[in-house]
Amino acid sequence: MSEAIARYPKALVAIHWVTAAAVLGAWATAEGGREVVQNPPLLHFTLGLAVLALVLPRLVLRLMGGGGAQADHRSRTLAVVAAGAGHGLLYALLIALPLTGWYAASQIGVPVQFLGLDLPALAAPVQGRPGVIAEFHESAGSIILLLAGLHALAAIWHQFVLRDGTLRRMSLR
Ligand code: HEM
Ligand code: HEM
Repeated sequence: MSEAIARYPKALVAIHWVTAAAVLGAWATAEGGREVVQNPPLLHFTLGLAVLALVLPRLVLRLMGGGGAQADHRSRTLAVVAAGAGHGLLYALLIALPLTGWYAASQIGVPVQFLGLDLPALAAPVQGRPGVIAEFHESAGSIILLLAGLHALAAIWHQFVLRDGTLRRMSLR
């Protein structure tokens, strides 16, 4: 069985783990609006924008056949559909989170840089609370962590209870 495991391409595996670390780091370095003005969290911006920068090559790798790792599922059971939906939602958040964060920073009036490059503002600065996009960003920042936790538990369940080698698909070795 283990020899038959379809693996994700190495580049996609590397992006998966770097992204997971960057999401965790972005969450850990996040600040509320008032602190952002006084002391902009540059590490938060950089880690968050790295997530965005890595999504595009990741999607290209998937479209080039990197999603074939799931092809050996025998049937489209509810669990397979749930896994697909969960991965889809994770992808949506990996794109929406950095963009809404960038937008919120622009509304707060804080300039955003990525690796020394000045990025354009996505919105005009506003007075007072930045509004619904920033609120979405704050909530989604915690939701992605929760979802990734459930996703990790599912992977661990597959690996150690179902013993179907799921973790090895995302292993670099
Ligand atoms: C923020 C953290 C994480 C995010 C955003 C994330 C996202 C994803 C996504 C979108 C996929 C689908 C394949 C792809 O296109 O890359 C995936 C697959 C996978 N992830 Fe994660 N992941 C995270 C953390 C973790 C952790 C902590 C574990 C392990 C404990 C894990 C284990 C796996 C495994 C084993 C697969 C392959 C599942 C399969 O197709 O059979 N992930 N992940
Ligand atoms: C995966 C990426 C990201 C995650 C997980 C994330 C997570 C979070 C969380 C949890 C908060 C709330 C902090 C609190 O209220 O104490 C927050 C706030 C914020 N983040 Fe992010 N973030 C990400 C990417 C970004 C990016 C790329 C930017 C800007 C370029 C950004 C800019 C901001 C700003 C300006 C706030 C304050 C919003 C407000 O209070 O109105 N974030 N982020």
